[in-house]
Amino acid sequence: MKRNRSGELFERARDLLVGGVNSPVRAFKSVGGNPIIIERAKGSKIYDVDGNEYVDYVASWGAIIHGHADDDILSAIREASSKGTTFGFTNMYEIELAEEITRRVPSAEMVRLVNSGTEAAMTALRLLRGFTNRNKVIKFIGNYHGHFDPFLVKAGSGLATYSLPTSAGTTGGCVMDTIVVDYNDTEGVIKAAKENREDLAGIIVEPIAGNMGVVKPKGDFLNVLRETCDGLGCVLVFDEVITGFRVSYGGAQELYRVMPDLTLLGKVVGGGMPLAAIAGRKDIMRKLAPEGPVYQAGTLAGNPVAAAAGLAALRKLTRDKYDKLESYGARLEDGMSKIMKSYGIKGVINRVGSMMSVFFGAERVEKYSDIKVPARFAEYFWKMLDSGVLIPPSAFESMFFTLAHTEIDLKVTLEAFEKSLQALGNE
Ligand SMILES: Cc1ncc(COP(=O)(O)O)c(C=O)c1O
Repeated sequence: MKRNRSGELFERARDLLVGGVNSPVRAFKSVGGNPIIIERAKGSKIYDVDGNEYVDYVASWGAIIHGHADDDILSAIREASSKGTTFGFTNMYEIELAEEITRRVPSAEMVRLVNSGTEAAMTALRLLRGFTNRNKVIKFIGNYHGHFDPFLVKAGSGLATYSLPTSAGTTGGCVMDTIVVDYNDTEGVIKAAKENREDLAGIIVEPIAGNMGVVKPKGDFLNVLRETCDGLGCVLVFDEVITGFRVSYGGAQELYRVMPDLTLLGKVVGGGMPLAAIAGRKDIMRKLAPEGPVYQAGTLAGNPVAAAAGLAALRKLTRDKYDKLESYGARLEDGMSKIMKSYGIKGVINRVGSMMSVFFGAERVEKYSDIKVPARFAEYFWKMLDSGVLIPPSAFESMFFTLAHTEIDLKVTLEAFEKSLQALGNE
């Protein structure tokens, strides 16, 4: 496949945008080579500026669930934007979107709309501290909650440890109240909570991890988090920025029947526009300004065009749609597993509905340290791309598919997968 124009544009971009991108993973650092520059996308397909077509399993990192450029979402955007793109005052769409969110998400009683998942996580942390008058928060290794300083922590060793900041520019002070525990380590959580019981404000978790590939909660892990928070009077936050409206009608909390106090939503909730939300118990939410003392604000928060897009996306995301996603996912998983087996390639596939990961070289992935990045992941990625299938350019990112993915896409994907594994096996 020729990608000359992408190459030229990336050169231009590199002079102007740091790393040629506006978000690091887009730079293809872990797979090498020039990233593709996108011209357009429709349905399950994404097209680069050289005219190459790919079946898209990135789906804007999980934001797209109906397929790209969905006609209903586009007309909602057109209609809303024709009335004005921002008012700086409350509009009808944000009220209706809040109604839709509280109708669907079992634990959501009140909502604050924001512009990104990072902002939602940032607000949640301030809110859980403001509500409990305590400082410390437990987070899990390999869980990502956006680029807010206290969550940018490196995994320490041992069951629970105070962490070092992962990013330059974050201070030790910023992360000294962040306690890091292995995902799915129930004993680790109980121990960390006990040791910090006086000052533990809350626990934040991706109920299904999606930022170390897909890792499911094991056994009673989520229940233990709920019980721990109940026991200590602290706040349980489910970061459902990925899982919200993707894994089921009401998100992971509906699927696993464990209710958080606060839920972070992003990606799908904005219908492909910049919108995210924090939702939860009224008594906690009412601590936010203007009702309470925890300050949070946003010029473009509840933007009418973004809220209209989100509303259109959620309204057509009826319960039966999840059966359709499951059916595609089950066949994709089954097909890939069979191909791996037939080539004697060790690995495991983790999948919940339309989020999925292929972990090569591992028999089981339940926590971050179980992941083995294959030396030839980059070759695998490029072979998939050259066969017309775009998977995330990093072994730690999940694959996502949409309601627009078809039987033909499935066939193309399985053929590409077989070719890519074959080629790797023969080299
Ligand atoms: C679980 C989770 N939380 C929060 C975020 C941050 O969201 P945003 O990129 O919109 O700031 C992400 C982004 O990928 C995410 O996956």
